[in-house]
Amino acid sequence: MYTSLIRPILFQLDPEKAHHIATRLGTALCSLPAAGPRLVQRHAGSWPRLEQNLLGIRFDNPLGMAAGFDKNAGYAELLRFMGFGYAEYGSVTARPSAGNPQPRLFRLKRDRALINRMGLNNEGAEAVCRRIREKKASQADLFDGFPCGINIAKTHDPAITGDDAIRDYAASYGFARTAADYVTVNISCPNTREGKTFEDKTALGDLLGGLAEMRETGDPPVLVKFSPDTDDRTADSLVAVCEDHAIQGYVVTNTSSGREGLRTSQAELGKIGTGGLSGAPLFPGTLKRIARLRSQLPKERVLIACGGIDSPEKAIQLISEGANLLQLYTGLIYQGPALVTRINDALVRKMNDLGIPSLTHWPVHAP
Ligand SMILES: Cc1cc2nc3c(=O)[nH]c(=O)nc-3n(C[C@H](O)[C@H](O)[C@H](O)COP(=O)(O)O)c2cc1C
Repeated sequence: MYTSLIRPILFQLDPEKAHHIATRLGTALCSLPAAGPRLVQRHAGSWPRLEQNLLGIRFDNPLGMAAGFDKNAGYAELLRFMGFGYAEYGSVTARPSAGNPQPRLFRLKRDRALINRMGLNNEGAEAVCRRIREKKASQADLFDGFPCGINIAKTHDPAITGDDAIRDYAASYGFARTAADYVTVNISCPNTREGKTFEDKTALGDLLGGLAEMRETGDPPVLVKFSPDTDDRTADSLVAVCEDHAIQGYVVTNTSSGREGLRTSQAELGKIGTGGLSGAPLFPGTLKRIARLRSQLPKERVLIACGGIDSPEKAIQLISEGANLLQLYTGLIYQGPALVTRINDALVRKMNDLGIPSLTHWPVHAP
């Protein structure tokens, strides 16, 4: 129904407008009095064999919504309703930001991809984290087994550099740790005017060192989100810096500045201009990076695979290469909400085939 009926209607609209309409309609549906908490949580406990405890957090299932879909943490009910096992909210930044001028989100239909240059539009870390704390306090059931990641990035302002940039992240971290089950440090947003400031060994070391100084007992685990555009050598050196700073996991990866191998014409790409590419074209790189990191890192390090997941087969491949958790965004736009249950159902079927009782027994993770 989504691909034959709903998608053609949504794809008539500007992509950002379509996002707002779909999320608001979906949320309204979830909050109909007849829906009640049972409908919102219709998937809670649906896939008991997909439940995992990672980093001291219980995930009902391994498929999460990637950062960027719910920047201001307004759609937790909708995400759980669709069957996601967790969500990463944000990116949030120390100062609120309206982001880049519109249009800033584009569909590449022939590639099942998107290009965005949203520019970190968000209501600011303080407001978003307060919203999450309040929701957690008033709807504890909603977040039971549906953990909440908060993705922090540097405020979209090229004048903030050096120590000011570290203070900017630190301010967001200060709010995020009061609300998150885990915090992801986004060092890889390609849509800021100044580019990738923290994908440099020294700068990353200073940033993670600054955050480590703030950390207190009971703070949520910290993960780092990488770009798909760094070469293996650079990626290895960044991972080494993260390991020195006791980073507990990695989100692999953000959107790409690359445009290689796309079916979309050069003329159309030229018209769209700059931005981060997401969706199907990222998948081979995501798979390669997950396999590489799994072979290099200790078993307890949590790997979240993100980039190009739009089918159960791809989800299974990533778990088989060593991902503990998955995230998607663009796949939902092209395949619709049923993709979430299709992926979780397929993971359970695969576990039956493999004769394993839980995700932690998947061959790549088993002792
Ligand atoms: C419109 C849009 C906005 C995004 N905003 C963010 C963001 O604020 N922070 C972030 O870390 N990633 C952001 N992302 C990247 C996604 O979290 C994800 O890493 C990327 O899209 C690859 O996954 P996908 O192929 O499943 O979409 C955004 C992606 C899209 C499409």
